[in-house]
Amino acid sequence: MLDDIQALSKEILAAIAGAATPDALEEVRIKYLARSGSWPKLLEGMAKVPGDQKPVVGKAANAAKNEITAAFDAKKADLTAAAESADFDPTLPGRYEAPGSLHPVLQTRDRAIEIFRRLGFALADGPDIENEVFNFDALNTLPDHPARNEQDTFYLKEDGLTPSPGLKPGTLGGRRLMRTQTSTVQIRAMLAQPPPLRIIAPGRCYRRDEIDATHGMSFFQMEGLVVDEGITLADLKGTLEYFFRELLGEDLKFRFRPHFFPFTEPSFEVDCSRTGSQVKGKEWLEICGCGMVDPAVFEQVGYDPEKYTGYAFGFGIERIAIMRHGIPDLRFFTENDVRFLRQFSTRIDS
Ligand code: DAH
Repeated sequence: MLDDIQALSKEILAAIAGAATPDALEEVRIKYLARSGSWPKLLEGMAKVPGDQKPVVGKAANAAKNEITAAFDAKKADLTAAAESADFDPTLPGRYEAPGSLHPVLQTRDRAIEIFRRLGFALADGPDIENEVFNFDALNTLPDHPARNEQDTFYLKEDGLTPSPGLKPGTLGGRRLMRTQTSTVQIRAMLAQPPPLRIIAPGRCYRRDEIDATHGMSFFQMEGLVVDEGITLADLKGTLEYFFRELLGEDLKFRFRPHFFPFTEPSFEVDCSRTGSQVKGKEWLEICGCGMVDPAVFEQVGYDPEKYTGYAFGFGIERIAIMRHGIPDLRFFTENDVRFLRQFSTRIDS
C-alpha cells in the first residue's frame, strides 16, 4: 500500500505539473481527485491494511494528500492569473475603489492641530497604557482622589508596580492603567526637555463611564502646555479664545468658571455659547478645563517654580466635533454607520 501511495502521488504530481491550461488541470482533477478518481479509489484499500500498519500508512497518505492539494491549488492560481492577464483589455474602464475619508473626530483633531501649529505649538505624545504615577501622582493627584478609584479607571491586571523614572527622588512606581487623561503627556514632555516648552498632545483616553449621549468609555482629548518665564493667565485666555474662535466661529462667547483641577492653580472650566446653536437644549456647553500649572507639578519634574510659570488646558475632541457639526449624540461616532460618516467625507465626488 505504501508503494502504491507513493507511485500514484508521484503520477498525480507530474500530471498537475504538466497541465498547461485550466481545462487540462480540470481533467487531471476528474481523473485522479474527484470522487470516482483513482486517488480516493486507492484509499479505499486502507480498510484492508493490517491494524498495526494503519498509522504509518495513514500518515503517508495524509502527507501525500497535502502535497497534492498544495500543488493543485498553486497550479490553479497560476493558470487563472495567466488566463486573466491574457484576457486583459486595456480599453475597459477602470474599477472604482471607493477610498475612505478621515473620521469626523480625526478631522476635528487635525484642524485643531493646524491652528495650534500656527501658534508655535509642537506635537507631543505619550502611551495609552500609562503608569498611575504619570496619570495621577506627578499631576498632584493624591491617592484618595476619586478619579483613582477602580470604578472610574481601567487598571491592568498584574502584580507589582512599574517604576516611573525621571521623577523626584523617592517617588515609588505605580500600577499600570489605561490613561484617563492626556495630562500625562505634560509630565512626559517636561521630563524630556527643559523649559521653555509649548506643546499640544492629542490622543485617546479611557474611563469607566456609563455610555450615554455625551460619554464614552474611550474618547479623544487634546492637552496643551506652555511653560516659560512670565507666562500669565492672560496668555491662557487669549490663546484659548483665539483657538476656539478659529475652530468654531468668530461669534463664539466664552465663560471662564473657577473650578478645581489638582495640577493647576487657579483652575477654570471654559463654557462656550454660539448664536443659534444649542447642544442638549443648553446654551452654554462646557468644552475645556484649564489653569496655571501648579508649582507642585514643576517640582515633580525638576522645573524651577520660582523662575517659570505656565498654563495647561485639556479638552475632549468629540465634544468639539459635536459642536462643530451640530451632532446630537456621541454614539454616532462609534457606530460606524456609513450613512452618518459619509456626510463628513472630504472627498468631492461622494
Ligand atoms: N485632564 C482634565 C480632564 O480630563 C482636563 C484638564 C483640566 C487638562 C485642566 C488640563 C488642565 O491641562 O489644566 O478632565
